[in-house]
Amino acid sequence: GAPVLIDISKLRPGQRITVEWRGRPVWIIRRTPEMIARTRALSPDILADPDSRQQQQPAYVSGELRSLKPEIGVLVGLCTHFGCSPLYRPEPDAAEPGSDEWSGGFYCPCHGSRFDLAGRVYTNMPAPTNLEVPPYRFLGDAIIELG
Ligand code: FES
Repeated sequence: GAPVLIDISKLRPGQRITVEWRGRPVWIIRRTPEMIARTRALSPDILADPDSRQQQQPAYVSGELRSLKPEIGVLVGLCTHFGCSPLYRPEPDAAEPGSDEWSGGFYCPCHGSRFDLAGRVYTNMPAPTNLEVPPYRFLGDAIIELG
């Protein structure tokens, strides 16, 4: 398929948008400095694959945030368990996950898998891997090319 261009100039801090790419939803989130700090501060012990060794992402994406820029997250919006659409719950006090460990991220309502704001899955979840990061690059500051 042809690459998809996404204008993120109007994406506000903390906000998420969803676009379609090859028949699948892709999320773009603009993380605030606080969200970035919170994600980096997560203990690796509560994450199943904190360093993304299962390679659910392109090789040029690395680090805790799994993104080219710390503030911009790009993730395929499908749970790696059975493909439900996880909910965006960026605040640590979100009610649904109901866990002391919850630090904000994505919560799958189907069987309760939890992911952090970088799409990393928590330990002992039904989902076996982190959320997928699609191939992407920046064309200037405000345009992302997917694919
Ligand atoms: Fe998400 Fe099962 S499909 S937890």
